[in-house]
Amino acid sequence: MASVDVPVALLGYGTVGAAVNRLIAEGADEIERATGHRLRVVRALVRDADKERGFAADGGVLTTDFREIVADESIAVVAEVMGGVEPTGDYVLELLRAGKPVVSANKQLLARRSADLFAAASAGGVQLRFEASVCAAIPVIKVLRESLVVTNVHRLLGIVNGTTNFILTRMEAGASYGEALAEAQRLGYAEADPTEDVSGADAAAKMAILATVAFGSRVELGDVSYEGIEGIRPEHVAGAREQDAVIRLVGAATLAGDAVDVRVGPVLVDRHHPLAAVEGAFNAVTIEGDAIREITMAGPGAGGIETASAVVADMVSVLGTTGTGFLQNDAVWRRLDRLPPGDLPCSYYVRIEVSDRPGALAHVAERFADEQVSIAQLSQHLTNGSAELDVVTHTAPAGRVEAALAAIGRLDDVRSKPEALRVISERGI
Ligand SMILES: NC(=O)c1ccc[n+]([C@@H]2O[C@H](COP(=O)([O-])OP(=O)(O)OC[C@H]3O[C@@H](n4cnc5c(N)ncnc54)[C@H](OP(=O)(O)O)[C@@H]3O)[C@@H](O)[C@H]2O)c1
Repeated sequence: MASVDVPVALLGYGTVGAAVNRLIAEGADEIERATGHRLRVVRALVRDADKERGFAADGGVLTTDFREIVADESIAVVAEVMGGVEPTGDYVLELLRAGKPVVSANKQLLARRSADLFAAASAGGVQLRFEASVCAAIPVIKVLRESLVVTNVHRLLGIVNGTTNFILTRMEAGASYGEALAEAQRLGYAEADPTEDVSGADAAAKMAILATVAFGSRVELGDVSYEGIEGIRPEHVAGAREQDAVIRLVGAATLAGDAVDVRVGPVLVDRHHPLAAVEGAFNAVTIEGDAIREITMAGPGAGGIETASAVVADMVSVLGTTGTGFLQNDAVWRRLDRLPPGDLPCSYYVRIEVSDRPGALAHVAERFADEQVSIAQLSQHLTNGSAELDVVTHTAPAGRVEAALAAIGRLDDVRSKPEALRVISERGI
């Protein structure tokens, strides 16, 4: 049987867009062998069609007119690799409503407007795929949507930001936060303005997308609470090491009954947990479900070619599963309550600086007991006149631990605000 010639289009021809065109051109024979389709980029939307490009497009492909793409009936699938929320969102909606399947690498768009986009895809009877929006080349969305459909996924833990993971692993090797950030910037892992990464905002957008897919619901960026790694100091890293743990910026999406909690923050990860082994700029996601117990996938979470490989794979999947198919049943979804933040059960690692006076330890322990938070481990370090307590709690509702910490912070014996990190451990502490 003759192979099918498939005209495709790109919105954007930057780092990722040019890499998509390159993979399609250089991998044309491979794609054809696997699918019987020969993809050809016929249009790519840009702001400046005369700019020099890393991988040149064929003459006449670059255009500054979106209408040329939406009106071209021959285009079978469009890859959105231009980024931003506007006008990108309106373009994608228009394409979907016009019956064109879209694949997107855009976490900000998906995390903010997924409900509108899914509705438009369902109404248009076409697929919307977005593997590259989270963890670049790691096929986590596909696994959640297709492979684990009857698994009842109830928790998902992710290291979904390579910049912060690089900084934290450099701090483990002895660097200060400032030194590690400067090194990340020098190596191109961090932007000149690293706020989006180090504040946890980038990871929050990715976790909103993962929670949406994992729990078959709609979770948007505003539903995700997040904090960053700016406050992590070498003392925290050393404290973690004493607990045989490492500090990682972890996104956690938890389904508790009919309520969902999604948050991002620095946590202590037990050395034996698979996420503790994720070093440098790599990403990883651990999926916990009834039938599978636990699956962890790790790999490169960014980069033009890595992201482009996921974009091309999505385009090929669209072509291989025409129409809405069973993959795009976005008409059926459930509404989940938001779990009150104080109800989430967690174990905590807490550092408390107290005066080296009799009774100080007992007062701290009493405040935990008042909130029915039991202590799993406690160690004390003395330094002239003061003592540092390292406490690991058993699992308790976050609100009760916060109440105990507030009460501890008010004790005369306590010298500074107690610092707490959630703990991820398989040892049951
Ligand atoms: N780079 C990565 O490692 C990576 C990883 C994962 C996900 N992503 C996502 O992939 C997407 C693209 O990233 P990128 O790094 O390839 O960005 P980029 O290099 O800045 O490329 C953006 C492209 O979109 C075009 N564009 C932007 N706004 C436009 C507008 N209003 N009208 C017409 N064209 C417009 C630009 O045109 P001009 O070239 O004419 O300016 C450029 O070709 C983003 O959503 C990003 O978050 C990137």
